[in-house]
Amino acid sequence: MSLFHSTRTLPEDATGAALRADVRDGLTGTPKTLPPKWFYDARGSELFDLITELPEYYPTRAEREILVGRADEIAAASGARTLVELGSGSSEKTRHLLDALTGLHTYVPVDVSESALTRAGQALVAERPGLRVHALIADFTRPLALPDTPGPRLLAFLGGTIGNLLPAERAAFLAGLRAQLSPGDALLLGTDLVKDEGVLVRAYDDAAGVTAAFDKNVLAVVNRELGADFDLAAFDHVALWDAENEWIEMRLRSRGAQTVKIRALDLAVDFAAGEELRTEVSAKFRRDGVRDELSAAGFGTTHWWTDREGRFALSLSTVR
Ligand code: SAH
Ligand code: TRP
Repeated sequence: MSLFHSTRTLPEDATGAALRADVRDGLTGTPKTLPPKWFYDARGSELFDLITELPEYYPTRAEREILVGRADEIAAASGARTLVELGSGSSEKTRHLLDALTGLHTYVPVDVSESALTRAGQALVAERPGLRVHALIADFTRPLALPDTPGPRLLAFLGGTIGNLLPAERAAFLAGLRAQLSPGDALLLGTDLVKDEGVLVRAYDDAAGVTAAFDKNVLAVVNRELGADFDLAAFDHVALWDAENEWIEMRLRSRGAQTVKIRALDLAVDFAAGEELRTEVSAKFRRDGVRDELSAAGFGTTHWWTDREGRFALSLSTVR
């Protein structure tokens, strides 16, 4: 019997309807925006995995260093029987947690990318006899239908992905997580930290152009799913540090004046020369800010660990 099982909590067309609504709202507003979850079709997930190996993209290596050093402490503090991971992607770094969580009953990876979930889940059950993997194809910003597995639960949200939510979205998201957890459960949160601007910008604008291809992939998704005619070569990838908000902002800048047609929406969108479409923010954090945001959502932070160079942090919190 296979111990890999997956559940789709979205109705079959929910993705299509949500994509249409997001693209219509985002491309008819000022400034133009697109929400980041649409980056991750099969190609987007593949490109993200390549990003994690780039010399400029330090967050993955820094977070892995912390997990390697602290997995035993995390396991002892949480005693988790169920590990839920939001935005699990390839589940690559999660292996260190799975090794340490000796009493684990079920691993529940949650992602919008069905291809990434299936690939990662099947590899894990093949390599770890006895591990139950119950994958959820779901949007983690919505309430989760978690499987009925034993507690305590450890909820992991790694990669600094929380920084891809805007501050108000983050507050609502954390409060929503808190509401789904019980006393004795814990939250393991990965946050990228404020640092030198050059280091940050290079992490989101690498020399080989992989991040540029990833950023533009969202246009390819809209072309394929909604019959649009974006010319990917007519946009440049831009990564900027916003010092006031302390986030990196990713944009696609139209090289010239152009009109893009989106057939499924019966919509024509004009871009002026140099006009920018915001595709993603990646907020960077400070220790006090993380503690305060968690506290406002009803979590008490018990541990804070960084890598040796102080670039990235993992925090462990319990529900109050
Ligand atoms: N945790 C991995 C991957 C981070 S990339 C790591 O640390 O390397 C962000 C992941 O979150 C991707 O796998 C993407 O598909 C997923 N994701 C983004 N927005 C999401 C959403 N709203 N709901 C569920 N998954 C989402
Ligand atoms: N969660 C990742 C981060 O903020 C996502 C990411 C990395 C990303 N590089 C990107 C998103 C480039 C858009 C464009 O670090």
